[in-house]
Amino acid sequence: MKINKICCIGAGYVGGPTMAVIAKMNPDIQVTIVDINAERIAAWNDKDVSKLPIYEPGLAEIVEETRGRNLFFSTEIDKAINESEMIFISVNTPTKTYGKGKGMAADLKYVELCARNIAEVAKTDKIVVEKSTLPVRTAQAIKSILHNTGNGVNFSILSNPEFLAEGTAIQDLLNPDRVLIGGESEDAIESLANIYGSWVPQEQILRTNVWSSELSKLTANAFLAQRISSINAISELCEKTEANVGEVARAIGMDSRIGSKFLNASIGFGGSCFQKDILNLVYIARSYGLTAVADYWEQVIILNDHQKRRFSDNLISTLYNTVSGKKIAMLGWAFKKDTNDTRESAAIYVADHLLSEQANIAVYDPKVSEQRVQADLNYLQTRSEEENAKLVSCFEDPYEAVKDAHAIAIMTEWDEFKTYDWKKIHAVMKKPAFIFDGRNILDEDTMTKIGFEYSSIGK
Ligand code: NAD
Ligand code: UGA
Repeated sequence: MKINKICCIGAGYVGGPTMAVIAKMNPDIQVTIVDINAERIAAWNDKDVSKLPIYEPGLAEIVEETRGRNLFFSTEIDKAINESEMIFISVNTPTKTYGKGKGMAADLKYVELCARNIAEVAKTDKIVVEKSTLPVRTAQAIKSILHNTGNGVNFSILSNPEFLAEGTAIQDLLNPDRVLIGGESEDAIESLANIYGSWVPQEQILRTNVWSSELSKLTANAFLAQRISSINAISELCEKTEANVGEVARAIGMDSRIGSKFLNASIGFGGSCFQKDILNLVYIARSYGLTAVADYWEQVIILNDHQKRRFSDNLISTLYNTVSGKKIAMLGWAFKKDTNDTRESAAIYVADHLLSEQANIAVYDPKVSEQRVQADLNYLQTRSEEENAKLVSCFEDPYEAVKDAHAIAIMTEWDEFKTYDWKKIHAVMKKPAFIFDGRNILDEDTMTKIGFEYSSIGK
C-alpha cells in the first residue's frame, strides 16, 4: 500500500523531529503532527524557528524546509486521523504516579486515549504505529480497543520504536543504526518500510514480530543505562584506589567486544526514558514472578541514585560539612548537552539535596529557562514554591552566576564550559574556590594551576 498521508499524535521530542525527517525525505507524503497542547502546536508553527518548542541541532533548518510544504502542525486531531492512512502514536508514557504499579509501571492512559480516539473517528482502514515506548504486549490492548470500539474498519498495528537520542536526534534519524518494525501484517510492515526506505538501506530495516519489537526497545535502553551504571560503579572504586576512570574506560573500551561508547562516568544518567523504561522492565518481570530478573535490572537504577547522592554528599563534605548560606553555582541544568530537556536531570536531584542543606543555588544553562528550573524543583514538592524562588536564582551570563560562589558544580557537559575564561572565574569566586566537575570536562592540571580546588568523578 502506498501511503500518501501520515498523522502523528504527539508533537514532542520524538514526534516532532521524527516526522520532520520523514517529511524531508518523502516530499510526496503529507505529514501532519497533532497534539492536544495548543501552546506547543503554536510554538511549532512560530515563524521564528528559534522559538520551536524543542531545541535540537539541525531541527530548525528541516522544519523551515518542510513546514507548509508537506509538514503541518495542528490541533485538529480528528481531522488528521480521518485523512491519514497511517497514524503514529507518539505520546508520553511516563511512570505511573497513582494506583497499581505506582512509581514503576508505565502509565498508558495517553496511549489508550489515542487508540480510542482513532477507533471513534476512523472511517477507512488504518495502519496504527506504536512510536511511543511501550511495555511488551501493549499492542494487544491497542488491538482490542481498536477492534471492539471501532466502526468496523480494519486496523493493522505495528510497533516501530524510536532509538534517537536527544541532542543528536537529527543525525540519529538521518543515519540510524537500524529501524525496527514489528507487526503481523506483511503489507503494513512493507508500507512503513517503504517510507524509511527513502533514505535507510533496506538491510538496516529489521522486521520482527510485535512482541520482539516492543521488548527490544526496553532492552536497548536497559543495556545502555546499565553501561553507565557499570562505569559509575567503577568510578567510586577508582576514587578509593588511585585508578583513573577515564583510563580504565579507555582500556576496556578498546576491547572490541566491549566497545568504547557510553563509558563516560558522570553524576548519573538523566533524561525522560532510561529510568522510566527500566522501572517498567522491572515491573513487567515482577508481574511474571521473575524476581531475579527484576532485581538484576533494578540495581541499575539503585546505582544511578547512589551516584547522584554521592556527588552532592562529596560536595557538602568538601565544603567543610556545611553548605548552609553558601552560594553554589550550577553550570548546566539540562540532562545532557545540546538539548533544552531537563526531565530527570541529575541537576534537579543534586540541587534539591543542596537546598535541603540550606544552600543558595545559582543556575546557568544556555538553553534552559528560569521558569523550567523552578518548575522542576517545585514538582518534587520538597519545599514551598516561595522558598525555591528565594533560594534559587538563574542567570543569563555564566560569569554573573559564579560571582561570589563558594563552589561550582558542573552538571551538564555543554561544550562552551570548556572555553570559559577560568582565570576570570577564579578571581570573582570566594576562596578557596572549589569546582566539582560532574562531567569530567575540564583539565585537572590547568584548573589546579589557576588555583582551584578541583575534583571530578572517578579520579
Ligand atoms: P513528550 O512529552 O515530549 O511529547 C508527548 C506529546 O504527546 C505531548 O506534547 C502531549 O501533549 C501529547 N499528547 C499526550 N496525549 C495526547 C493525546 N491524547 N492526543 C494528542 N496529543 C497527546 O514525549 P516524548 O519525549 O516525545 O516521548 C514520547 C514517547 O517516545 C515516549 O513513550 C518515550 O518513551 C518515547 N521515546 C522518547 C525519546 C526521547 O528522546 N524523548 C526517544 C525514544 C523514545
Ligand atoms: C536514550 C538512548 O540513548 C536512545 O537510544 C533512546 O532512544 C532514548 O534514550 C529514549 O528512549 O528516550 P537520551 O536519553 O536522549 O537517549 O540520551 P543519552 O545520550 O542516552 O543520555 C542519557 C543520559 O545518560 C544523559 O544524562 C547522559 O549525560 C548520560 N550518559 C550518557 C552518561 O552519563 N554517560 C555516558 O557515557 C552516556
